[in-house]
Amino acid sequence: MISVILRNSLQKIFNRRCIRLVHQNHEPIEVKEAKDSCPVSSHNEWDPLEEVIVGRPEGACVPTFSIEVKANTNQKYWGFYETNGGEPFPQEHVKQAIAEVEEFCNILRHEGVVVRRPDILDWSEEYETPDFKANGLYAAMPRDILIVVGNEIIEAPMAWRSRFFEYRAYRSIIKDYFRKGAKWTTAPKPEMKDELYDKSYPIKSVEDRRVLAEQGKFVTTEFEPCFDAADFMRAGKDIFVQRSQVTNRMGIEWMRRHLGSEYKIHEISFNDPNPMHIDGTFNIIGPGLVISNPDRPCHQIDMFKKAGWKVVTAADPVMPDSHPLWMSSKWLSMNVLMLDEKRVLCDTNEIPTIKMFESLGIKPITVNLRYANSLGGGFHCWTTDVRRRGTLESYF
Ligand code: ALA
Repeated sequence: MISVILRNSLQKIFNRRCIRLVHQNHEPIEVKEAKDSCPVSSHNEWDPLEEVIVGRPEGACVPTFSIEVKANTNQKYWGFYETNGGEPFPQEHVKQAIAEVEEFCNILRHEGVVVRRPDILDWSEEYETPDFKANGLYAAMPRDILIVVGNEIIEAPMAWRSRFFEYRAYRSIIKDYFRKGAKWTTAPKPEMKDELYDKSYPIKSVEDRRVLAEQGKFVTTEFEPCFDAADFMRAGKDIFVQRSQVTNRMGIEWMRRHLGSEYKIHEISFNDPNPMHIDGTFNIIGPGLVISNPDRPCHQIDMFKKAGWKVVTAADPVMPDSHPLWMSSKWLSMNVLMLDEKRVLCDTNEIPTIKMFESLGIKPITVNLRYANSLGGGFHCWTTDVRRRGTLESYF
């Protein structure tokens, strides 16, 4: 009898929509269960945007020039990395990037979008785990580390040692989302031992890298799961992902098993010797609408055409060679953020891209992001869309 009473009262406590938990300092805190008004809710890349995390250039630090960084940086900048590894990025440049990103945030707010920012941390501090030593990178690209699938926010494990502790900058925001009802997951933390990296990976020869890429081989091994969130692209129940320099098959499989049967994870590939982050290669911007990088054709493009998707060839970027792009290609021009199906944020200087969107009946809202681009990302990379108004649908 007593146990029945106990069970019933426990049941009542669990059935309440708010659960009272006791915090470390013994103060009760209110934690809401996930429900319809959950602050985290996004199913694709184009539903009307309501809330977004925008990264910070503050404190950005040049990563130590280890093999995984070498594998993914243009040889033109190797001298820069050798000289500046472990030091802050050039301060004048960072200052300009800060101003650009502030303006970007203002424009988002003006469009009615709630903007959240990560904490400012000093990324040049060196750290040591039992397996390696490194210094940090930045909290500039939330897209790389955070992916929202429905009401769940997932922290990616990452693959660069300099990004091992990157999640720390986002924890204030994520804990707030958790308190308000979001589901919060950290993917298995990799050890990042030497075994995760192929020491014999041919960093110098693009042709050798291309051959290996065709065989699905990259600088990361299959020692343990690793992925960056930016290698995934969401289209409702279908999520597309590439095996890349930072996302391995175990990482993809982890995501597949984690999300379960409600989602289909499609692994796709490109003619790209150096894949890292799918959003400068294949950017899905609407239901059945994708911008495709002409330098990196998709091997499975017929699959999309058969599904009735419109595949639009990205306009050529116009970034001058003189402008430093320490961590990416010029294709940040197509790395855009959709405010909704009919409005896009893109760079003021990228006139051919602006015209391309206009011809698709999509209104460009333009911001200058050149200095911010130097740190490795465009509008899509600089953001994680936390809430978009819409429901889980199938588009494929
Ligand atoms: N890393 C991607 C590129 O450079 C965004 O295209």
